[in-house]
Amino acid sequence: MKVAVIGSGYVGLVLGACMAESGNDVVSADIDENKVARLQRGEIPIYEPSLEPLVKRNLAEGRIRYTTDVAEAVRASDIIFIAVGTPPGEDGSADLKHVLAVARTIGQAMNGEKIVITKSTVPVGTARRVRAEIEAHTDLPVHVCSNPEFLKEGAAVDDFMKPDRVVLGVDSEHAGAVLRDLYEPFVRNSGAILTMDVPAAEITKYAANAMLATRISFMNAIAQLCELTGADVNMVRKGIGSDARIGSAFLYPGAGYGGSCFPKDVKALIHTMEELGADASILQAVEAVNERQKRVLLNRLVARLGEDLSGRTVAVWGLSFKPNTDDMREAPSLVTIEALLERGARVVVHDPVAMDEARHHLGDRVTYAASNYEALAGADALVIHTEWQPYRRPDFVRMKAALKAPLVFDGRNLWEPADMAAAGFEYHCIGRGTAGLSAKE
Ligand SMILES: NC(=O)c1ccc[n+]([C@@H]2O[C@H](COP(=O)([O-])OP(=O)(O)OC[C@H]3O[C@@H](n4cnc5c(N)ncnc54)[C@H](O)[C@@H]3O)[C@@H](O)[C@H]2O)c1
Repeated sequence: MKVAVIGSGYVGLVLGACMAESGNDVVSADIDENKVARLQRGEIPIYEPSLEPLVKRNLAEGRIRYTTDVAEAVRASDIIFIAVGTPPGEDGSADLKHVLAVARTIGQAMNGEKIVITKSTVPVGTARRVRAEIEAHTDLPVHVCSNPEFLKEGAAVDDFMKPDRVVLGVDSEHAGAVLRDLYEPFVRNSGAILTMDVPAAEITKYAANAMLATRISFMNAIAQLCELTGADVNMVRKGIGSDARIGSAFLYPGAGYGGSCFPKDVKALIHTMEELGADASILQAVEAVNERQKRVLLNRLVARLGEDLSGRTVAVWGLSFKPNTDDMREAPSLVTIEALLERGARVVVHDPVAMDEARHHLGDRVTYAASNYEALAGADALVIHTEWQPYRRPDFVRMKAALKAPLVFDGRNLWEPADMAAAGFEYHCIGRGTAGLSAKE
């Protein structure tokens, strides 16, 4: 099939490469000239495991090409995915300017019947607006469908190739049949294609992310209760996660959720619900808990070392909002680092892949360490923000020797408090008490 993917970000890149891998003729368009030039050379502008070989192979075999000419991509294709960003507007609503700009270009470039699919996460009712924008410029027939994306950054190719389910919100039998055919190679084993009306598909995406964010904030609230009572949240987590009705995923307390999706999608859903007169109080609570949680590590560090951190050095391990990605959009690490800098601390950071991305956010206001151990040299404390695999089993003797004081604030519960106390650390984690209090400074 002839497929256009408009927008070559995390979602568009994976979608285009995977569609090409299953034999389709794909053109991937983006207005970012620098990004497209890199892609044409086979360079991947983001860190996403397994994506590079996929792109290189399909480029070499001629099944995918990258262009800045969106109109030409539309003319060359029968199926057009809109995968551009939907950042939060000032009032928290999803900003649809990129989506509607693409719809306008599609309308102007129409040269036959097309199936247009919003892949971007968009509020309920957006497909209607996309259709109106296209039909303002053409009389040719167009189907406008919704196919929300559930991939996880860091495992995106795998998620796309073997999805739990594919949600298709369709406006006609014909569009449903074509899209089911397009996705059939990806659901051979599960067969899980859910066809539904367009508004249900649009709401499903927000409901899924809001549910996952709710589980995280719920566990962060329970972690706070554990801290006040001396209970171990890990035990509580296992105790409830083993209940088949609850399940064990997304029950990890931490230093707050971040990333390109949960924060903006929860905000946008609140906005839509309020606008339509629905009660959004449950999501307002989810957001409020998360805002508090993003400051938990900082508050503990300040309680321990004081408000004035001038003359102090703080090491930070992990900058991306989660492991296996370089994405730092709304990363809780940024909240901590900005607050440390405001209080006069010198901040030394390390991340296995997000160092270049960090420079865009932090410039030369922090020191970039070549290794996680180098970051510790002479530091008054270590703060951990991302549960990268190489951080899980470090050399604690080497860590202790490098740090000025063996003081650790772990936002991802990487280690056992008792082990840390035995190794001579003062160890603050989430919902599991504090071990080895009063480390020597
Ligand atoms: N990142 C994720 O994990 C994820 C997962 C599921 C859904 N989503 C949703 O998918 C959408 C895209 O997310 P992303 O993370 O890939 O965004 P991104 O910011 O990484 O990429 C968006 C791309 O769209 C391009 N673009 C903007 N306007 C354009 C236009 N008029 N024509 C062509 N290209 C244009 C930008 O240059 C950019 O390269 C969002 O709605 C997001 O909520 C993201």
